[in-house]
Amino acid sequence: MTSPAKFESYFNVIRDIIRAMHSLTDQQDVMDVMVAKVTEALNAKGALLRVLNKETNRFDVRAACGLGERYLTKGPVTTEKLLAFPSELGKVHVITDIWNAPRVEYPQATWDEGVRMMLDVPLAIDEHMAGLMRIYLTEKRDLSDDERDFLKTVAMQSACVLQRVELIEKQRSLFHHLAAQVEKRSSLGRMAAGIAHEINNPLAGILLYSSNLSKKVPEQSPLEEGLKIIMKETQRCKIIIQGLLDFSREQEPERELVNVNDIVKSALGIVENEFHIRHVGVQKDLAQDMEDAMLDKNQLEQVFINLLLNALQAVDDNGLVTITTSADKAKRAIRVEVADDGCGISQEDMEKIFDPFFSTKANGTGLGLAVSRGIVRNHKGDIQVESELNQGTRFMVEIPKLIETSVLREPS
Ligand SMILES: Nc1ncnc2c1ncn2[C@@H]1O[C@H](COP(=O)(O)OP(=O)(O)O)[C@@H](O)[C@H]1O
Ligand SMILES: [Mg+2]
Repeated sequence: MTSPAKFESYFNVIRDIIRAMHSLTDQQDVMDVMVAKVTEALNAKGALLRVLNKETNRFDVRAACGLGERYLTKGPVTTEKLLAFPSELGKVHVITDIWNAPRVEYPQATWDEGVRMMLDVPLAIDEHMAGLMRIYLTEKRDLSDDERDFLKTVAMQSACVLQRVELIEKQRSLFHHLAAQVEKRSSLGRMAAGIAHEINNPLAGILLYSSNLSKKVPEQSPLEEGLKIIMKETQRCKIIIQGLLDFSREQEPERELVNVNDIVKSALGIVENEFHIRHVGVQKDLAQDMEDAMLDKNQLEQVFINLLLNALQAVDDNGLVTITTSADKAKRAIRVEVADDGCGISQEDMEKIFDPFFSTKANGTGLGLAVSRGIVRNHKGDIQVESELNQGTRFMVEIPKLIETSVLREPS
């Protein structure tokens, strides 16, 4: 039986760990407390805590106490060695034969460190081993049932703490990421509106004077070619500025009762020629049961044109682009997909394609997707994308139907 003094010290460790659980939000602090307290309570030489790194699937050392630098700098431990007893997740493993135990990766170094016995205590989360606490003792001794119970309780509490802290850290980093995105979007929006405003008027001036001049220069004059280039390039600037204005204004949709199939058809009509010139086929698959909905026709036409042109620019000659509409009755939503069998989008670019000005094209403005997403979001919908490099890309636009169409049709 454990002496009252010993029992008190166990109680204190568990109390400290539970306190840490409620007060600390930094994973490192929590883990440092764990190893230090357990070493103290068992009168051990030291303790080491390894936690599963989900990316590498290895158990990395995350906290240590009482062990020499040389021992700690030994390489990583193979996962198989630590998982040698998966069925005994809730138990304490006692290792007395350091030289022959399969779970000991560096017996010589362990022996040199003065260790004669080790205790492995797995930390389990949802039936999986999320970590392992190894406790190092300088002499062999029997482990009482109370000590085992104590270690199991510490392991359970520690696993809970780690899980909780991991969740907090995940939420925190998600929050920072979102905050940065919001900041970036709003400052870009302000900047875009400012630039567009400042540049629009001088551009109109350049265009006016250059077209006046071009009318006045005699035919075949060497000036004519130069003026044409000035006018063409100025026109291009105006298109970019218009895109910027659309992006920064984020106009509220002017909704009317329309059928998305008709919007798709008119978008196709506008880009048809471009597809024809490039010998790229467009396959349209429009849902028969598509009902009318309250949408901004012009804005959505712009979205589909952007997606279709991107698809066209991604495919080789003789490539194929598909546009499909469907009605998701359960979610009361309209879905439009634009898919291509083109170059695809790399993992790295995937995070940036919706950023204003991000473009991988020599003449791209990088505004098409930013504007399109703005429009779809103003319709309370969203755009998703799936892509595989050199295989193709699929953009999925989903817009909720805010009002049941039948309600709108009812006679008043
Ligand atoms: N269907 C697609 N296939 C491959 N890449 C695409 C596709 N659609 C968009 N992208 C990528 O996203 C970037 C941004 O698109 P967008 O905002 O329309 O600007 P732009 O077309 O002017 O480059 C493109 O430059 C391209 O790298
Ligand atoms: Mg584009």
